[in-house]
Amino acid sequence: MPRSPRPAPGLLLLQALMAMLSLAPVARAELQPALWPFPRTVQMFPRLLFISAENFQIDHGPNSTAGSSCSLLQEAFRRYYNYIFGFYKRHYDPDDFQDRPQLQKLLVSINLESECYSFPSLSSDESYSLRVQEPVALLKANRVWGALRGLETFSQLVYQDSYGAFTINESSIADYPRFPHRGILIDTSRHYLPVKTILKTLDAMAFNKFNVLHWHIVDDQSFPYQSLTFPELSNKGSYSLSHVYTPNDVHTVLEYARFRGIRVIPEFDTPGHTQSWGKGQKNLLTPCFNQKVKSQTFGPVDPTLNTTYAFFDTFFKEISRVFPDQFIHLGGDEVEFHCWATNPNIQNFMKKKGFGTDFRRLESFYIKKILDMITSLKKRSIVWQEVFDDKVELQPGTVVEVWKNENYLSELQHVTAAGFPAILSAPWYLDLISYGQDWRNYYIAEPLSFIGSEKQKQLVMGGEACLWGEYVDATNLIPRLWPRASAVGERLWSPQTITDLGNAYRRLAVHRCRMVSRGIAAQPLFTGYCNYENKMEK
Ligand SMILES: *[C@@H]1O[C@H](CO)[C@@H](O)[C@H](O)[C@H]1NC(C)=O
Ligand SMILES: *[C@@H]1O[C@H](CO)[C@@H](O)[C@H](O)[C@H]1NC(C)=O
Repeated sequence: MPRSPRPAPGLLLLQALMAMLSLAPVARAELQPALWPFPRTVQMFPRLLFISAENFQIDHGPNSTAGSSCSLLQEAFRRYYNYIFGFYKRHYDPDDFQDRPQLQKLLVSINLESECYSFPSLSSDESYSLRVQEPVALLKANRVWGALRGLETFSQLVYQDSYGAFTINESSIADYPRFPHRGILIDTSRHYLPVKTILKTLDAMAFNKFNVLHWHIVDDQSFPYQSLTFPELSNKGSYSLSHVYTPNDVHTVLEYARFRGIRVIPEFDTPGHTQSWGKGQKNLLTPCFNQKVKSQTFGPVDPTLNTTYAFFDTFFKEISRVFPDQFIHLGGDEVEFHCWATNPNIQNFMKKKGFGTDFRRLESFYIKKILDMITSLKKRSIVWQEVFDDKVELQPGTVVEVWKNENYLSELQHVTAAGFPAILSAPWYLDLISYGQDWRNYYIAEPLSFIGSEKQKQLVMGGEACLWGEYVDATNLIPRLWPRASAVGERLWSPQTITDLGNAYRRLAVHRCRMVSRGIAAQPLFTGYCNYENKMEK
């Protein structure tokens, strides 16, 4: 484990002085552990243990199946040691606290096959238990994924008392998530997001126990995904040749996410939202007509051409190789019928197929073909709710993402009554901003408050906080997401009974400060301050 070098004695004196001076007379919320999202069961005892940065270790337990060979765990140990001590470690002299009972070690044991080298999946076991006792704390998990979640919780238990000593209550925690799918949607088409910003987002996601990055990677505005089989797509469709995600960039994101127990689900939204595709792939989009004359504009993907399906067949073969997750998001939202209606070729096709003038049937015809492709690639599909609403014939197991805010509870009711799994994002469109504490609305949204059987409720896989990118780029993504998305994080992880807004406010205020101290520029919840602020300027 990394250890901090001991500062020179003169410096120590100065620091002790500084620590004393910072004993402000006000009651400080941070002098208690603040757990976020709140674990399933927590027992805290009055016995306080002291932790010294110099003498504390995080290590794998003796009976653990994942030993020192698991770099995912070794990296996590190093990260969490630094989160716990990194920021504060120079502010007091540990020798002053030697008389207190000490916690010397956190041992992490993986009970089953560790899955150290796997990618996380929908069925990954994230459960863990944590027992903090003098002199050794024990974190037990079945898989590395639970160990990662438990390390986060352990780091949240440690706080500095009013003398600056690292302190932890003896405690016992057993925890597992309420929903298996807890996502954040980022949009890299409306604005390109540098890889660094995506990695920061993954860090913050781990602090809030999110486990899915829904990467809405391309859209009308730009096509930053660099395809191996169709390089022209990003050559022509990206904002510029430097606003692309190379195979290496994608790999970096996937591996960084994996190390934090986060799945990456790419979204390639069709047949609408595809203007940028048309630049690098001729004859993919439908030419629109103006009074029977071909205009210069294009509509959605042209579903009448065989070449369209040959293209997507090759394209999605690549995508299913590049992205290891079992799921691919196929979009399918907001298809504009106007351009299709002007095109004589489409009109003929509609007639031949007997679709009449119901363009939803053409849309269904197209999406069904794409869905079948994904199935034949042994992957599963996620679609936006219109695909269900427009009565596309769906394979069992196709996941429907409910995003429209009106009547989302009855939509959940209908989707699950039809036997389809659902993901909820309707109440969590974080790109819609307003004055005040909108996190409270996110917090009180309850995904299972629709009318339905137990079996229907079990089909709700979880939810996603969505941050669409029209007004968001690297300058404001992080503060706009955090801590507002944290509210969604707790709703999706913690038991349904954890709903007290006052209690949530107190914990979230501390959690937000903790995120800031870990390098996440999370915006304030309301008035107040963070304990470290006076020290930060030094
Ligand atoms: C932690 O221990 C302190 C000191 O005994 C006690 O006052 C406090 O209530 C404990 N915290 C919790 C959350 O139980
Ligand atoms: C497109 O494919 C279908 C089905 O394989 C075939 O019947 C049809 O003739 C093809 N059309 C063209 C123009 O090649």
